[in-house]
Amino acid sequence: MKTKILSANEVQIAADILNFGGLVAVPTETVYGLAANALNPTAVKKIFKAKGRPCDNPLIVHISDISQIYGLVKEFPESAKKLAEAFWPGALTMILKKSDIVPFETSGGLDSVAIRFPSNEIMRNLIRLSGKPLAAPSANLSGSPSPTKLSHVIKDLDGKIDAILDGGNCKFGVESTVISMITSPPRILRPGTVTPEQIKSVLPDVIIDPAVTKGLNKNDVALSPGMKYKHYAPLVSVIMINGSSEAYTNYVNNRVDDCGTFALCFDEDTKKLSVPFISYGKENDYLNQATLFFDSLRKIDELNGIEKVYAHCPKPTGVGLAVYNRLIRAAGFNVINLDNY
Ligand code: TXA
Ligand code: MG
Repeated sequence: MKTKILSANEVQIAADILNFGGLVAVPTETVYGLAANALNPTAVKKIFKAKGRPCDNPLIVHISDISQIYGLVKEFPESAKKLAEAFWPGALTMILKKSDIVPFETSGGLDSVAIRFPSNEIMRNLIRLSGKPLAAPSANLSGSPSPTKLSHVIKDLDGKIDAILDGGNCKFGVESTVISMITSPPRILRPGTVTPEQIKSVLPDVIIDPAVTKGLNKNDVALSPGMKYKHYAPLVSVIMINGSSEAYTNYVNNRVDDCGTFALCFDEDTKKLSVPFISYGKENDYLNQATLFFDSLRKIDELNGIEKVYAHCPKPTGVGLAVYNRLIRAAGFNVINLDNY
């Protein structure tokens, strides 16, 4: 299949493709998504095939107007309305009980559905012009780092999907915050740029699922099927390091003689390092780190001769928690805590 690259003023062409049951990759404010008509099971199945995604891993359904939610869910509780008022349109996804209209192909066989009202104008135009809610997971091959640029989508999906809408680089660079509104109390299953602190200011009793910062234990049930699967992993092996700039750079410099040692670090570390590195922003600028993180993982994969990447980890607070969550998964939960930190 030849994949068309469409410009932002060709959204109507993309909408027509979706209405014929095709697949279009589309920018959002978080990462690029791979969209299909969420109510068309045949179209939705193509998403799983193109990405190589397990079919029990449900898709987020995107809307462009709050009124669309009523057809998709059994109930829209007061607590969810409060979050919608505070954070939509934006990078927040809410899990609610699904209505019968939403096919089980979209919900991965679950009775719930994840709903997001994105703020990106190209995505919203696409939803409006197609006239349908759009199912869209991140537009990467399953397991690989999420796509924040057109070139990432081309690398993973060229030849496998009908078209890609070019919207430049994504603003936030990490996927939306996912919160389950069908548990009591509501539970954050995936952190994003809408932070736990912000959500707590609206719903004080919200909790963070422990799997956000730790792996699932053998007998744990994954509330979000995505928690079970390998994620965001580059081809080279990543080791996550918790520690101050001094401790981190000392630790990495002591491994300079090992073959293929590389550092994924912060700006503050660069002058102290004696191994090759890529910086993904300032140590305390979590938004900047979020924007650069997946792109940095992909850049490292394109370099030759790298065997081990020692990645300096941000503190797990605010948007830092979203970066921490992606990094610990990219590292396959291989974490080194340096003393006194
Ligand atoms: O920012 C984003 O959320 C991007 C853009 C494209 O909107 N989308 C995205 O989709 O990250 P995806 O499929 O890569 O991640 C969705 C996560 C998965 O871990 C999935 O298991 C979980 O949300 N999820 C979806 N529906 C769910 C449901 N009904 N119950 C529990 N978890 C659900
Ligand atoms: Mg994804």
